[in-house]
Amino acid sequence: MKTAVRGDVLTFRGNPFREAERDSLVFQRDALVVMENGRIAAWGPAAELLSSLPPDARIEHYPDHLILPGFIDCHVHYPQTEMMAAFGEQLLDWLNHYTFVTEQGFGDADHAREVARVFLGEQLRNGVTTGCVFGTVHAASVDALFEEASRHDLRILAGKVCMDRNAPDALLDTPLTAYEESRALIERWHGKGRAEYVITPRFAPTSSHGQLEMLGALAAEFPDIAIQSHISENLDEIAWVRQLFPGCRDYAGVYQRYGLLRPRAIYGHGVHLSDAELEMLHDSGASLAHCPTSNFFLGSGSLNLRRCVEAVKPVKLGLGTDLGAGTSFSMLQTMNAAYMASQTHGKPLTAAQAFYLATRGGAEALGISDKVGGIEAGMEADLAVLDLRSTPLLDFRMRHVRDLSEALFVQMMLGDDRAIAATYAAGAAVYRRDER
Ligand code: GUN
Ligand code: FE
Repeated sequence: MKTAVRGDVLTFRGNPFREAERDSLVFQRDALVVMENGRIAAWGPAAELLSSLPPDARIEHYPDHLILPGFIDCHVHYPQTEMMAAFGEQLLDWLNHYTFVTEQGFGDADHAREVARVFLGEQLRNGVTTGCVFGTVHAASVDALFEEASRHDLRILAGKVCMDRNAPDALLDTPLTAYEESRALIERWHGKGRAEYVITPRFAPTSSHGQLEMLGALAAEFPDIAIQSHISENLDEIAWVRQLFPGCRDYAGVYQRYGLLRPRAIYGHGVHLSDAELEMLHDSGASLAHCPTSNFFLGSGSLNLRRCVEAVKPVKLGLGTDLGAGTSFSMLQTMNAAYMASQTHGKPLTAAQAFYLATRGGAEALGISDKVGGIEAGMEADLAVLDLRSTPLLDFRMRHVRDLSEALFVQMMLGDDRAIAATYAAGAAVYRRDER
């Protein structure tokens, strides 16, 4: 059964940090995206494609809307949904006072399921069709998330957090149980529908040498599986890592030593990485997730993303909300914060670059750009439909917009969940704003 959505389409065929916008960005007015069996069967100008559709094909028309690849959130903690906006602390105190308290609740599978449902519902309300998601130390937290995600047939990446020191006892595993439980989750979920497992050491300070060794061994057994963690977010954290791992040259050196830097390894933050560490990430093929709302919220600093993406040895970069340190599920609001972060370094992120990071750039950072992150025949049919006049202010502001770049910039600065008119996953509408 073929279905289609009709409206203006925006997607990327290249990288607007390295190529001119006209070569990297694709914009088609009044396009048709034809979907079949969960994939994009064809797309192009509606005038050319309409006649190829069977007469009974269902076409959803979105005049004055922009059809985008579904957004990709490269770094997010679903269990922290219930503790967003926790007052007053920076990273290490915030973890101890809020995060490690909240995450203990996920020993209860019913609680995990309820939070997973709220979390995925919010992602879909924000046009996010793929997340790379941290669970808690409890394997059941990941079962709950994958189960809920499978109800919407989402492409989702997630893993059980591994941590065996420097946290409350109730949140600790061991080197062996981290290995065994992660391995069992891989066998249970990896490649089931669109679920992908991610090996997930929380960050260097909460894993012993023994645990990092075991997770390195697991990673070596599964060379194609993704890895996620945190790196170089906060200055006190970095000093602590230096103390805990005196034998390693720097923070990136810790992950390298245990075989955790490689393609499809994605690290949150990287705000304070040295040139040598960025080079290590490039050489290994690892990626970074830029989490600007979180970096501002926790006072961690602001990433100079051009040091990553425009270096001679570039590091792949995606955008992360990093909830619950991040302040919004909205990738538009995350782009807004990424723009502000770029301004603190004196060179503004363009709208095209921001939309690229939130779609194809994120997919490349996660190693899934052959499946999602773009609108192309053969790719999985994950779409976000953006209403360009979603608030009275945006309606007014859009009357004064001169070109596409300005329209996109206004959307990412002023838009939020209200701008998402519909979200499609594997060709099916999984959210419609006006059907609340
Ligand atoms: N570093 C280690 N754990 C976390 C976390 O849960 N959130 C953030 N922002 N940083 C971390
Ligand atoms: Fe995080």
